[in-house]
Amino acid sequence: MTRPARILVTGATGAVGGAVMRVLEAAGQRAHGVSRRGGTGPRQHLWQAGREEPPPALRGPWDAVVHCAADTRWNLPFEEAERANVAPLRAVLGLVGPETHLIHLSSSYATGLTGDITSTSPDAYRNSYEWSKAATERLVHATRESADIVRFPVVMGARADGFLDRYSGFFWLPTSLCSGAVPAMVAEEKALLDIVSTDDVARHVARLVAGGAPTGTRVTVLGRGDRAQPVTQVFETVRAALNGWRARHGVPPLERLPSMTPEQWNRFYLPFAEEHLDRAQLLRVTAFRAYQGYLSVTEPFEVTHRVPDTSLALHRSIRRWAETHETAARRIPRPWRT
Ligand SMILES: NC(=O)c1ccc[n+]([C@@H]2O[C@H](COP(=O)([O-])OP(=O)(O)OC[C@H]3O[C@@H](n4cnc5c(N)ncnc54)[C@H](OP(=O)(O)O)[C@@H]3O)[C@@H](O)[C@H]2O)c1
Repeated sequence: MTRPARILVTGATGAVGGAVMRVLEAAGQRAHGVSRRGGTGPRQHLWQAGREEPPPALRGPWDAVVHCAADTRWNLPFEEAERANVAPLRAVLGLVGPETHLIHLSSSYATGLTGDITSTSPDAYRNSYEWSKAATERLVHATRESADIVRFPVVMGARADGFLDRYSGFFWLPTSLCSGAVPAMVAEEKALLDIVSTDDVARHVARLVAGGAPTGTRVTVLGRGDRAQPVTQVFETVRAALNGWRARHGVPPLERLPSMTPEQWNRFYLPFAEEHLDRAQLLRVTAFRAYQGYLSVTEPFEVTHRVPDTSLALHRSIRRWAETHETAARRIPRPWRT
């Protein structure tokens, strides 16, 4: 009788790791999960990878390790991004043997501003998150004879109902639209926002696990590629989903924001704002600036695996966010005044 495969999923309580655990479970695999705070359910372990020794239960041998653990914040100082994303991978590499099938989850944005992961310079990336994700890919290439690297863009919830274990990252947008923290839609006219569902990533990972380790390092890129939605359309889908929920709950609709290019915003509006807005307003404007780079990508990602249309998954995820974040979804944006 063959023994069941021993599979470890890091970041198992996160948006992607949670979905990977469910798909593996549905395929009959009894995967172990690990996260900083530990999850509920059987086979969930607690470990601050990169900051402490692994508990004995996590020592191998593992047949497959799916490494989802990461800190996806874009605005960490560079040393902190290194501690949050590169150090945990180094610690996970200590758990895997040469026979282990390592599946490392990365981001389509890891290729930064130059289109590849080779540069170690922060200038080659939009932010410390991208820079650290590129560093993790380089570490996988440098240390493994065989591994899968899976890149994908912005992640939405399940296709059926928008469910996500955690609404972080992109969900600054509905939060900020409802609170009025986004004063304008600042995006390049032809910008695209590529989106996948957690289902797409989790099913892809499950297929990789089932197929076994590749010869060499294999990079797959999921997404819509040149069929990604324009940013303007994404904003309208988010607004429509929020307004649908708000109408059902008797909350006034969100109005369409004025749109402008990053150049117009940075050259004309921001200098004016810096002179006239109060400290709290300026903080909101500065926080908003961190996201601009992502709304200015006009070159589609080259994908190896095109996922089905994600506009409905986006709509359902925003609706689900509103259902689970009622106080934030009910807010009436405060008008911008100087
Ligand atoms: N979300 C996106 O839009 C997106 C897009 C492209 C790529 N990705 C990539 O997909 C992967 C998963 O991201 P996600 O969105 O699922 O992130 P997430 O929802 O923020 O979840 C992060 C997970 O990692 C765990 N974690 C973080 N640091 C850890 C550490 N040092 N030791 C142990 N566990 C740690 C967290 O544990 P706790 O719950 O205990 O904090 C949580 O389970 C990452 O590699 C990310 O770069 C995400």
